[in-house]
Amino acid sequence: MSPLALGEAEIWRRNTAAGRWYGFGRYYAMFPRGFLHDAVSSLTDEDDVVVDPFCGRGNATFVATVLRRRALAVDINPIAWLFAAAKQQPAKNLNQVLSRLKEIDRSCRPADRRSSTRFETMAWAPSVRAFLKAARRELRWEASIVDRTLMAFIALHMQDKLGAGLSNALSPTIAHSPQYAVRWWTRNGMHNPPDVDPVALLEDKIRRRYRFGVPEQAASRVVLGDAQDVLPKRRNARAQLLITSPPYRGVTDYWNDHWIRLWLLGHNFGKDWQRTSKFTAQSGYRELITAVLQEAKKHLQPDATILVRSDRRRRTADLCLAAIADVWPEQPLLQRPTAAIHAGISNGHGRGGNTAREIDLLIPGATGSAWARSRGFTSVELRA
Ligand SMILES: C[S@@+](CC[C@H](N)C(=O)[O-])C[C@H]1O[C@@H](n2cnc3c(N)ncnc32)[C@H](O)[C@@H]1O
Repeated sequence: MSPLALGEAEIWRRNTAAGRWYGFGRYYAMFPRGFLHDAVSSLTDEDDVVVDPFCGRGNATFVATVLRRRALAVDINPIAWLFAAAKQQPAKNLNQVLSRLKEIDRSCRPADRRSSTRFETMAWAPSVRAFLKAARRELRWEASIVDRTLMAFIALHMQDKLGAGLSNALSPTIAHSPQYAVRWWTRNGMHNPPDVDPVALLEDKIRRRYRFGVPEQAASRVVLGDAQDVLPKRRNARAQLLITSPPYRGVTDYWNDHWIRLWLLGHNFGKDWQRTSKFTAQSGYRELITAVLQEAKKHLQPDATILVRSDRRRRTADLCLAAIADVWPEQPLLQRPTAAIHAGISNGHGRGGNTAREIDLLIPGATGSAWARSRGFTSVELRA
């Protein structure tokens, strides 16, 4: 049955493939599902195109494609892309993923068990260390759907609380520096990593995720790269909805805060540790958002809806507002604070709390005016 014939609660039940896969991948600032379902189903029709140029773990385009909209998603961070691409197009055959898992285990070399840093010694038991290094060496995650799916599972379960994943206790979202992690484990008496069997643990997690198969989804493209470069090369769709959440200024570091998973994907932090992407400078940030929106505009129908969820703090919100006003100077611009209680996207950073931390900025286009009125949007008076 087409999901369009079902209600929201039924589509996303945990005993459906869509419900199981929606939550795949842990990342920052994840869009809550109710927000996406409401926006996509109210503002677009089946077969319309939805674009998210800062897609993170791909929640928006996942919801869109389950609801039979086509989608284009872009992210510059390989971890975001890994999760987004894996859940947008997971390997269909569970057995292929499981046999690749066992192949990786067989390819471990004795030297892979060795630790070269204090962090490695305290983070992973020798068998886990060997498995991770083999996966890092062998998996062709950019080119192969099966390898990417498996790599996404490994990345997901290598950071978790003690006893739940492959490693000693680690935050599921932010990867603290190696020095900080070692100090924290020492202070908390967690000197030894858990001695888990990586194949058994991952097989169990993979089987649970595949319990109801993989979701049926409309066609989509998830592209790894800078949206400023990617969007001009991919211009062929006429999208009806741009829905996105740009990076928050000065809050998260999209490079260093993912260093453990980026290491798994082959990056070498001995060399790259100084690299950062925290978006602290005001001018560069506004230019980035404006440039991406300008390129995204060329993908849109003239009457498309633009919905941008931003950090509510002025240092980010004002620049997003100014960028939208620059790119769509003639269009009415509306805003609403996000509901206080629901799992707002920055609650995903682990800060929690009931305070609205985000703001939704909307250009309603052809279909959004009535929706905006009924959802509490008000006009933005100030134009930069
Ligand atoms: C707030 S997060 C988006 C989270 C997403 N809404 C979700 O549900 O997972 C912003 C994203 O923008 C990405 N980003 C930053 N600069 C970018 C660029 N120039 N091109 C594409 N993506 C970029 C970051 O890597 C990050 O994943």
